[in-house]
Amino acid sequence: MRQREHLTPYGNKPMVTPIVSSVNYEYVSFEILREITEGEIDGYTYHRDDNPTVRAVEKEIALMEKAADCVICTSGMAASTMIFLTYLKAGDNLLTFHDTYGAIYKVALILEKLGVEITWLDAAEEKKVAEYIKPNTRMIFCETPSNPLVKIVDIRYLRQQADRVGAMLIVDNTFATPYHQLPLTLGADLVVHSATKGLGGHNDLMAGAVACSTKDHYDQLWFTRQAIGTTLDPFPANLLERGLKTFEIRAAKMAENAMAIAEFLSSHPKITRVYYPGLKNDPGYKTACRQMNNGFGGMLAFDVGKKQLHAKKFVEKLEVIYHAVSLGCTETLVCLPVLTTMLYLPQELRTIFGVRPNTVRLSAGIGDTKELIDDLKQALG
Ligand SMILES: Cc1ncc(COP(=O)(O)O)c(C=O)c1O
Repeated sequence: MRQREHLTPYGNKPMVTPIVSSVNYEYVSFEILREITEGEIDGYTYHRDDNPTVRAVEKEIALMEKAADCVICTSGMAASTMIFLTYLKAGDNLLTFHDTYGAIYKVALILEKLGVEITWLDAAEEKKVAEYIKPNTRMIFCETPSNPLVKIVDIRYLRQQADRVGAMLIVDNTFATPYHQLPLTLGADLVVHSATKGLGGHNDLMAGAVACSTKDHYDQLWFTRQAIGTTLDPFPANLLERGLKTFEIRAAKMAENAMAIAEFLSSHPKITRVYYPGLKNDPGYKTACRQMNNGFGGMLAFDVGKKQLHAKKFVEKLEVIYHAVSLGCTETLVCLPVLTTMLYLPQELRTIFGVRPNTVRLSAGIGDTKELIDDLKQALG
C-alpha cells in the first residue's frame, strides 16, 4: 500500500513554492479527475495543461497587474504569439506600431501568411489610429514605453478607438512593468510581458506572461497554450518566483538610475538626442504622467555624436556598464538597436520610425548611481 504523506511533517508549508518537475500525476479518484478536467477545482494531470510551480507564479503576477488571472508561457514572444493565434483569423486587421520589439515583425509575417492584414503606425503619431482603424480591426497591439525609443502611447485613447469597432486592446508592459503602469486599469483587455526582463530580473530565465482582464480570456489563452504546448517548465518558474520577491525594490532603483542618467546625458555636449519619458521636454512626458506611477521606468535611449562610429567607440570604452542585449536586469546594459533587435526588420524599416545608426538603448540596473554616471562620463570623454 503506497503512503500519501504530507509534503512536510505536520503539514507545515514551505516558504518557497516547491519545484514540481512531475510531468504526470497519479489520480486520487475518478471524481477528482472529473472535477479537475471540468475546471471545478485547480488540479493537475499533465504538465502541458498546468503545473503547480507555474500556477503559483501566475497568481502572483495576476495580483501585481490587477488581473482576473494570468497565463505564463515559455517566452515573451510565445505570449504575444498565443494572443494573436487565439483572437485573430483570416480577414481580420491587426493595428500595431513600428515601435514594438523587432521579433513582432517576424510574427506579423507569419500572420500575413495566415490571412491576417496588418496596419503599421508610428507610435509618435498615435492620433492616426482614428484615421487607420477599420471595421475589421479586431486588435490594437502596442508597447508603452516602446522598444527601443521609449515612446509613450496613450492607453486610454487607444481604448476609445478600439471601442469604435469592438476591437481588443493589448499592451506590452515589459518596459513599464506593473510597478510603474497597470494597463488593465486604463482599459487594456490583456497585458503581455517578457518576464525574461524586469519580472525575472537576473538574466537567468526565459518566460512570458499574459495578465487577463477576465476569466474568459484566461480560459481562451489557456486553451491555446495547452493545445500548442508553450507551458513553462517549473525550474524557470521557480527562478521567476524568486525574482518577483525583489521586483519592487529593483524597479524603484532602476527608475531612479534611469532618471539620473537621462538628466546627465541631456546636458552632455556629445549626446545629440535623449529619449526618456521622465524628462519634461520629452514628447511622451504628459501622457506618461497621466498613466505611469512611481517614476518612468528603467529604459532610455540616446544618440551619441553624429555617426555610428561615435556610438561604437563610446560603448567599447564602458567599464561598468555592459554591452549586451536584453533589459530589466540587475546590471546596466547598453546596445545599438540597429545592430541587435532591429536586425529582425528589413533594412528599409530599421530607421523609419526614428532609430538612428548611432542610437544607443540603455537598460538601467540597480548599481550605484554615481558609479554608472562616472562610467558614462569617462566613456564619453
Ligand atoms: C518589449 C518586449 N516585448 C517582448 C519581448 C520578447 O521577449 P522574449 O525574449 O522573452 O521572447 C522583448 C524582448 O526583448 C521585449 O523587449
